[in-house]
Amino acid sequence: MKKELIDKVFSFKGSKQPGILQLRKQLIRERLPGHVAVIMDGNGRWAQAKGLPRVFGHRAGMEALQEVVRLCVDLGIKVLTVYAFSTENWKRPQEEIGILMNLLYEYVQKELDELDRQNVCIRVIGHIQELPFRARHELDRSRASTANNDGLILNIALNYGGRMEIVDAARSLAAKVRDGALEPEAIDETMFEQHLYTAGIPDPDLLIRPAGDFRISNFLLWQIAYTEFWNTNAYWPDFKDHVHFLSALVAFQKRERRYGGLL
Ligand code: FPP
Repeated sequence: MKKELIDKVFSFKGSKQPGILQLRKQLIRERLPGHVAVIMDGNGRWAQAKGLPRVFGHRAGMEALQEVVRLCVDLGIKVLTVYAFSTENWKRPQEEIGILMNLLYEYVQKELDELDRQNVCIRVIGHIQELPFRARHELDRSRASTANNDGLILNIALNYGGRMEIVDAARSLAAKVRDGALEPEAIDETMFEQHLYTAGIPDPDLLIRPAGDFRISNFLLWQIAYTEFWNTNAYWPDFKDHVHFLSALVAFQKRERRYGGLL
């Protein structure tokens, strides 16, 4: 079957969604992506489509995240990076920002023990020092108490911007050059990567964007150079039932990754 056709079949824009069991049967454990990144988009539209205020969509988005984390643990995926709040999201109404911060707090409060039991290691990327104290405190607590877990890395992008991450890496390298600790010629891609927030984490194999937009939205700009992209019209809260996430994995397994070379 041609790649375009496979993608069409597995992007599930219509109603013929195969069941969860059928999708799980199609998975080949050895070909699962090690690192999946998700732009959790469409919470607001999901709520509005149901005649509910936008903030209901964020709560449903949190529930979808809980389910997707469980699924990743179950499948043995190594890293899940989720875009929860971008540097641009501060432009939203104060009330919505407040609700998002409270949800973050609630998520950690409710889920931390279970995540710890599941051997999940929580990491955060972005300028979290600018988040409200309560949310920051819960994040610090969750990072500290799961730091030694060696199961799924749940990497939460918060007050994150891909350009800002690259600027921060450039700044820290420049400071080392200024202090005489580093020669400019010694800077290569590997060293640059070691100065990103994601240092030590492999690049994403698969990037999922729900809600139909074909944009990167300032997410992991450096890291997605060879990442496979999967898009669906379904909204992020719809991922709660596993079908869309499993569909993305099945589609990923059918991709030919050439990294600029030939097969
Ligand atoms: C984008 O949807 C989503 C966000 C800006 C926030 C994502 C947050 C969650 C899923 C809540 C829980 C997160 C954690 C880490 C507990 P949108 O509001 O832009 O939707 P729209 O494009 O339909 O308006």
